[in-house]
Order: sequence, then structure tokens, then C-alpha cells
Amino acid sequence: MAEIIYYVAASLDGYIATPDGGVGWLAPFESGAEDYGYAEFYASVNAVLLGSHTFEQSLTFGEWPYSGKPTWVFSGRDWPQLPPDVTATSRSPVDVVAQLDASGISRAWLVGGAALATSFRNAGLITEFIVSVMPVILGGGIPLFATDGPTLTLRLVSESVYDDGVVQLVYKPLTRG
Ligand SMILES: NC(=O)c1ccc[n+]([C@@H]2O[C@H](COP(=O)([O-])OP(=O)(O)OC[C@H]3O[C@@H](n4cnc5c(N)ncnc54)[C@H](OP(=O)(O)O)[C@@H]3O)[C@@H](O)[C@H]2O)c1
Repeated sequence: MAEIIYYVAASLDGYIATPDGGVGWLAPFESGAEDYGYAEFYASVNAVLLGSHTFEQSLTFGEWPYSGKPTWVFSGRDWPQLPPDVTATSRSPVDVVAQLDASGISRAWLVGGAALATSFRNAGLITEFIVSVMPVILGGGIPLFATDGPTLTLRLVSESVYDDGVVQLVYKPLTRG
């Protein structure tokens, strides 16, 4: 089965965005020379998976950020215009992962957001969690995952500590449900 990696940045208190979906708090960490392994990670995936809210936000960033990577947007809505290589799907995560497998896609980046990550987690489809814990406390917002779902115990694979206080944690599930 395709590897599904939830690669995400979270505040110390576990939020991926402010209550209104804002990610401006990440900007200070995106302007320097340090990329926290992003370029290497991005080169390693051959597909990108987005919830529709995250997709809508990505469209506001100017240039389409996932150009050249096959991308699936999970949505029950119609999308008359999509960037090249982007497919909108109303199918379940299980069905889409089966489609990835059938297309020979072996490694996909689950970008998020929380709602889509929760669907993948609850279906036992996430094979790796790469969480960059940012030295920021937001006090509220959109959590890494929604609060429902089974307990999942993880094994720490590696950690990287950066001079600016970012700590990147790589976990794999001990068991896949
Ligand atoms: N810090 C980070 O690294 C990071 C990374 C990614 C995202 N984010 C933030 O996360 C926020 C968005 O997260 P979110 O949780 O609100 O939304 P989301 O997961 O991006 O999108 C959720 C929407 O996707 C659609 N959808 C279709 N099939 C689904 C399924 N199986 N499971 C879940 N959703 C499905 C639904 O909308 P329709 O069917 O109506 O289209 C649903 O409301 C944004 O503010 C973004 O900035 C942060």
C-alpha cells in the first residue's frame, strides 16, 4: 500500500492554524535559509493529498505550490477549474489510496488539514507522521487532528532540533488499525 505521510507544522499547543484558518504565524520560519528538510521530503513524494479548505487556501498563495505533482483534492463540491494535474474527488480516503496503488504511486504527502487528516487516521491509512513543532503557542485554532478517533500508539523514528527552536518529530504507528 502507498505510504501516506502527514507532514505538517504545528504550534507547541498542537494547532496547525489559527481559529480563522490563518498560517501567517509560520511566515517567520519560511523566510530563512533553513527549510527543515522540506525540499528533500517534497522530492520524495509522488502525490499530494489536500482537504478542500487547505486547497482553497493554497490557491491564495499565488503560484500553485504543487506544480508537476499529481494532486487529489477531497471535496463533495464541484470544481469547474482546477490547476494542472489536480483531481477533485468525492471518494473516500480508502478508495483514493487504492487508486494511488493502482497508478503505481508509492508515496503521498497528506498535507491536511485537520479534517482530512482525521479521516485518514481513522481509516488507519497514515503510515508516517512528520510533525514540525514550532516554538509558538497559538492558544487556540485548528488542531492537528479533530478530537474523535481511536487511540493510536506511535514509535519515534527520529527527531531533529533546529537552532531557531523548531523540533521535527518523525513517528510511525506501532500498529495499523
Ligand atoms: N500548519 C500546517 O502545516 C497546515 C497544513 C495543512 C493545512 N493547514 C491548515 O488547515 C486548515 C484547513 O483544515 P480543515 O480541517 O479546516 O480542512 P481540510 O481538511 O483542509 O478540508 C476539509 C474539507 O474537505 C472536504 N472533504 C472531502 N472529503 C473529506 C474527507 N474524507 N475527510 C475530510 N474532509 C473531506 C470537506 O469539504 P467539502 O466536501 O465541502 O469540499 C471538508 O469540509 C487551513 O487553515 C490550513 O491553513 C495547516
